[in-house]
Amino acid sequence: MRALFLKIAVIVIVFFSLGILVLPSTVSLFAGQHLWYNLSGTGNNVPCGKCHADVYDELTANSTAPHSNMRCESCHRANLSVQYASVTSSYTSATPGKQAHAATVVACMLCHQINASQASATPGPYAGGFNVTMMGVSSPYNYSNATYSGKYEAHNAFVARAVAGAANSSMLLDSNEACVACHMKVNTTMHFNVTYSISMTVNEVIAGPYATGFNESYLNVSSSSYSFTNVTEVKG
Ligand code: HEC
Ligand code: HEC
Ligand code: HEC
Ligand code: HEC
Repeated sequence: MRALFLKIAVIVIVFFSLGILVLPSTVSLFAGQHLWYNLSGTGNNVPCGKCHADVYDELTANSTAPHSNMRCESCHRANLSVQYASVTSSYTSATPGKQAHAATVVACMLCHQINASQASATPGPYAGGFNVTMMGVSSPYNYSNATYSGKYEAHNAFVARAVAGAANSSMLLDSNEACVACHMKVNTTMHFNVTYSISMTVNEVIAGPYATGFNESYLNVSSSSYSFTNVTEVKG
């Protein structure tokens, strides 16, 4: 009687263990694997914040700051020269993405240049008063024109260097670093080369004699060099 009971117990344990081993293969690997997001609403319906929760939190942290009421796609799917993948209503028509599927990186100036016609959804106010052409740099965006020359702006070189550096893939698009450094709370480290002495070679040039019989002299700087010390400032 006892032996039979033990046998049944062993059989039950064996089947129970088999059940644990075999059954899991019948459920999805990930819970939610068969729950698709419905794309038939307006705009983008894939939740970007699911993976980029940090960006979402920053964007919405201060409700009175610029862009806090803008959705991710207002910027990251705003480039008119890019065809993104999209579904309109009730899946009646779907457009495949051409240059991009979900999102592209954007330059602030896509929306903040003069007549931001390359931005589809929400162009912002013109960030006028910068001139990068004067610094010998070209950008796909319009920083200035005759009326908004930016001729005297103290940060033209800063913005122009950011544009020029953008060709290096480790830098952000266009002048984004400069805009971000001033307008956002990112940690910024600056290495200032502070001049402590200047050395010049000055030639006195004599012109004349003129009809009046006098000579005239003026000073011509043929070379100059600066000695500087490096000062690092870190601002959080
Ligand atoms: C399933 C997670 C996931 C979702 C959802 C998602 N992303 Fe991403 N995203 C990533 C990953 C991973 C990367 C890094 C990709 C890489 O380096 O190849 C990334 C990178 C990016 C970048 C940076 C690209 C760069 O070159 O710096 C942007 C901008 C971006 N995503 C925007 C979006 C937007 C807008 C949405 C919503 C339409 C979105 N993402 C939805 C995972 C996601
Ligand atoms: C898709 C277009 C778009 C992009 C890209 C964009 N902005 Fe804006 N921006 C706007 C709009 C629209 C407003 C006005 C509405 C608002 O403040 O939310 C605005 C407002 C601003 C303002 C406030 C202006 C004011 O009058 O108070 C600043 C500053 C600004 N943006 C800087 C930036 C910077 C810096 C970047 C890049 C990191 C950037 N923007 C990228 C559309 C854009
Ligand atoms: C006002 C425009 C604007 C809005 C709104 C916006 N972004 Fe961005 N985002 C930018 C700009 C500009 C950059 C820098 C692009 C570059 O040059 O690489 C950026 C960079 C990023 C990056 C790459 C850098 C990083 O921090 O990892 C990700 C990811 C990203 N955005 C995701 C999002 C998501 C998700 C949302 C919505 C919650 C969002 N963005 C909303 C303008 C915007
Ligand atoms: C040296 C710092 C600095 C840099 C770099 C900078 N800004 Fe500004 N920006 C300012 C200041 C200062 C104001 C006016 C602030 C105020 O009124 O409180 C301003 C105002 C603005 C405004 C609102 C006024 C307007 O012109 O429409 C926008 C939009 C703006 N900036 C966008 C940008 C963009 C885009 C970039 C990058 C190309 C950028 N800024 C680069 C400092 C900067």
